[in-house]
Amino acid sequence: MSPRTWRIGVAGLGTVGGGLLQFLAERPDFAPAGGRAVITGVTARSRSRPRSIDISGIAWFDDPVALATSPDIDLFVELVGGSDGPAKAAVEAALKAGKPVVTANKALIAEHGAELAALAEAAGVPLLFEAAVMGGTPAVKMLREAMVGDDVVGVAGILNGTCNFILSEMEQRGASFADVLGEAQRMGYAEADPTMDVGGFDAAHKVTILAALAFGCAPNFAAAEIEGIDQVDLLDIKLAKDLGYRIRLIASADRTADGVAVRVHPSLVAQGHPLAETRGALNALFIEGTRIGRIFIQGPGAGAGPTAAAVAADIADVMTLPTRPVFQRPAGDLKPFVAVAPTRRVGKAYLRLLVKDQAGVIAAVSETLAECGVSIDSFLQKPVEDAGGVPIVLTTHAIAESVLTDAINRIEKLPAVLERPRLLRIARI
Ligand code: HSE
Repeated sequence: MSPRTWRIGVAGLGTVGGGLLQFLAERPDFAPAGGRAVITGVTARSRSRPRSIDISGIAWFDDPVALATSPDIDLFVELVGGSDGPAKAAVEAALKAGKPVVTANKALIAEHGAELAALAEAAGVPLLFEAAVMGGTPAVKMLREAMVGDDVVGVAGILNGTCNFILSEMEQRGASFADVLGEAQRMGYAEADPTMDVGGFDAAHKVTILAALAFGCAPNFAAAEIEGIDQVDLLDIKLAKDLGYRIRLIASADRTADGVAVRVHPSLVAQGHPLAETRGALNALFIEGTRIGRIFIQGPGAGAGPTAAAVAADIADVMTLPTRPVFQRPAGDLKPFVAVAPTRRVGKAYLRLLVKDQAGVIAAVSETLAECGVSIDSFLQKPVEDAGGVPIVLTTHAIAESVLTDAINRIEKLPAVLERPRLLRIARI
């Protein structure tokens, strides 16, 4: 029999923690199963920091592990963040003490999900993490619950609001990467360490979790191929636009006969495609199943209100539902997926070169591509002021990554080529 009042311990009182405290103070009886969810213990880095919400009536803990194992809480909510350190110690301690855990921590679940699932299942308690992926947009429940009657073959989307904000603002305003990153930080989208966002790691954590749920395997973050947006040039954003594309940071997980490919890359998406038209800090995701076909969801991936709503939905599940396996099958049966080899990864590409303005350059480039077996789909040479050379852009037909890398290495060595060619993938969605 569920307790009438669920006593909740919350570790981390940042944006999401503050949003959760406010929501539960106003709506403790929100859960469909009935009962009340009341925060009875909190911990954070600083007790005295000024906060918009009054915590004076809630027991304060200096140590997250002490809160996680306190006999005075029934459910532990972890909003500290980080794959290791206090977040991991507290979640492990809560599970070992038999407390249900709700977390928004994508790094923790992506990097240690299988071992935490084993702890949760040994204790017979839920470990839920809806808020870890796409903030307030319910991607985890979609895969974990709504899609279990289907065989998911792939997911692809925009999972990092900071990167999407930066790319769409650079495109719309012609603003520099550094200026827009500063704005994203001021608006509260960016992680404490923005490298996690712009380096692609945050999106990789999220898509690693989605892959585990989609394919019923252990999260395998080490196998994710990760490229961020820090090398995306305004010049490429402009040239891609001329070719009918927008650049987006696309995170994808595909199951093929060769294994699973989990990837994060800045990619060209055709204008008019729902992912190309997803602007600002919004997140969006396609899920493809063999029977349901394609589903598209779009919504806020960050922010106090939306992310706290996702945490609250998990709290309601703890109060309502029987426990189910964390990653779609018992933890003891989970295996990491086999990653697809580069020779088997095939896709269309955008290559941008900067060359000297002299006769024979284009012939030398196309000859090299032909020797490598790369077939050109379109070609654009466009004088651009202050580019430091003449930009040449070409798109290829589908080609193995290993062949493309060989071609890039050879083109880079041509005497008229001024820098290493820039490669961007053309999204297959
Ligand atoms: N920093 C993340 C983003 C928000 O920009 O999407 C929370 O995951």
